[in-house]
Amino acid sequence: MSTWANLGLQDSASPLMEQLIFFHDHALLILVMITVLVGYLMFMLFFNNYINRFLLHGQLIEMIWTILPAIILLFIAFPSLRLLYLLDEINEPSVTLKSIGHQWYWSYEYSDFHDIEFDSYMIPTNELSTDGFRLLDVDNRIVLPMNSQIRILVTAADVIHSWTIPALGVKVDGTPGRLNQTNFFMNRPGLFYGQCSEICGANHSFMPIVIESVPVNYFIKWISKNINS
Ligand code: CUA
Repeated sequence: MSTWANLGLQDSASPLMEQLIFFHDHALLILVMITVLVGYLMFMLFFNNYINRFLLHGQLIEMIWTILPAIILLFIAFPSLRLLYLLDEINEPSVTLKSIGHQWYWSYEYSDFHDIEFDSYMIPTNELSTDGFRLLDVDNRIVLPMNSQIRILVTAADVIHSWTIPALGVKVDGTPGRLNQTNFFMNRPGLFYGQCSEICGANHSFMPIVIESVPVNYFIKWISKNINS
């Protein structure tokens, strides 16, 4: 979860988010190098005294400053494509969770098991306990096993929503009439918070997502408890 003064990315809780952070840092480094170089050149132009009345063309420099940026762009494009296809990969998931966006709450279905479905509403500030997180905690949390491949199916019942969890590198639009798919793998236990990130109406800011990442045996206990009730 992001707390105040955290301006960067959240700590990753999945291998894919780790890769996304590496890619972000890589692209940012190239961006900084370009900015510094161009800034230096522009600044130095003010102090340029060289004048050449007969300078009309420069084949070599034109070649260099055309091809070099193209090569630099490839160093961003190929890692970006690698990540894109890695994110799209579905690695034989062991659990499937279906999340449906509504105005303005999420509802969830554990389609692998009978009758496990529930709504997940934000806890209003006036009902929040002292250890709760304002605008971020929900009444019914998602429970999912860590160290397992998990498939998420996302859709919506009314308008477009977006199921987004920064620490897991997941961001999928829920669109009425469509079923979108993604997957993730949580490599540590904990609580992972997310929010809807598609402007979906008046209470768009008030439909957060909370995942409890637990060891597999706890997950099985939770599932069997909920099947019987
Ligand atoms: Cu749902 Cu914004």
